[in-house]
Amino acid sequence: MTGADGIHIGGLYKVFGGGPASVMPLVRDGVTKQELLENHGHVLGLRDINLSIAPRSIQVVMGLSGCGKSTLVRHINRLIDPTEGEVWIDGEDVLALDRAALRHLRRHRISMVFQRFALFPHRTVMDNVGYGLAMQGVSRADRAERAGRWIERVGLAGYEDSYAHHLSGGMQQRVGLARALATDAEIMLMDEAFSALDPLIRSDMRTLLLELQKELHKTIVFVTHDLEEAIEIGDRIAILRDGGIVQNGDSQDIVLRPADDYIAEFIQGINRGRVVRVGSIMGPVESGLDGPDCSLDAYLEDALPVVARAPGNEARVVDADGAPVGAISLDRLIGAVSGNDPPREAR
Ligand SMILES: Nc1ncnc2c1ncn2[C@@H]1O[C@H](COP(=O)(O)OP(=O)(O)OP(=O)(O)O)[C@@H](O)[C@H]1O
Ligand SMILES: [Mg+2]
Repeated sequence: MTGADGIHIGGLYKVFGGGPASVMPLVRDGVTKQELLENHGHVLGLRDINLSIAPRSIQVVMGLSGCGKSTLVRHINRLIDPTEGEVWIDGEDVLALDRAALRHLRRHRISMVFQRFALFPHRTVMDNVGYGLAMQGVSRADRAERAGRWIERVGLAGYEDSYAHHLSGGMQQRVGLARALATDAEIMLMDEAFSALDPLIRSDMRTLLLELQKELHKTIVFVTHDLEEAIEIGDRIAILRDGGIVQNGDSQDIVLRPADDYIAEFIQGINRGRVVRVGSIMGPVESGLDGPDCSLDAYLEDALPVVARAPGNEARVVDADGAPVGAISLDRLIGAVSGNDPPREAR
């Protein structure tokens, strides 16, 4: 796994406390987080994490407070050293890096966006956004040019000379995002970056991030405890509980095939019509279907009126080139929206 592009985390354990090594045999035997704390005085941060993150994709990490999201993400730039395990980035062993190489990794290849923005309040927007570039040794003039471009790109043109603490929360997080983007790092770690914002502002920030991602193709690790945010943003979503990954899949996997009751509970309130796509529940191609076609990528909610109008309440499903790839019936659609359908027995 280690020579491959992207981020690869293997057999990663993190135990907090006075003597992590002494309790590792218990941890490997599957001691619960609670027992480890109560009887052995150690905190189980992460347990046997195996996660590969494809380059240029968005990996969401989610789960309840204390499940280990921040701990996991901070292993990627080694703000935390593991008790055991491996972290590789583009074929490079992060745990083997010396101080200089680690500094290079943090300044040039990985950027971070934090929940509480972590700006310098008494410095200007320009100085905040240019901070990472200053750390890289970029000249003042270059910094102004490059930072200026990103300030404009996140919608803050005209605020270059404003002080960070005079801006609203949403604007401050735009500064945080511009700062992370300005260094051109290929990996962006975002730990609850939008969680402190009002719902509407938060939704704007998600849209902005997705727009930027279409152009920039970063590898983004995005921590959130909000399932809707995870589904909107993530190419893959890893769900943690008590330091372990319970399920890692795309939004369709998570919603249609929850790995256990814990995940099922997580997705209970979700609007399946706006999350599940036709391609995830369609049946095999059928000949003789005629009438309106349904796109493979259509959300169930958008497919409903199309299929309801189709002769026999069944429509052909076509891919982006218009080629037939399956069929979808109204019964199946309604079953899937309501959550009563056995999904995808055939494709
Ligand atoms: N430095 C530390 N020392 C001791 N325990 C720690 C330390 N850092 C984290 N922990 C513990 O590790 C577990 C995981 O913490 P972490 O901060 O990664 O959770 P999280 O999922 O990010 O939670 P939140 O959603 O609240 O940010 C928690 O039980 C936490 O108390
Ligand atoms: Mg956290």
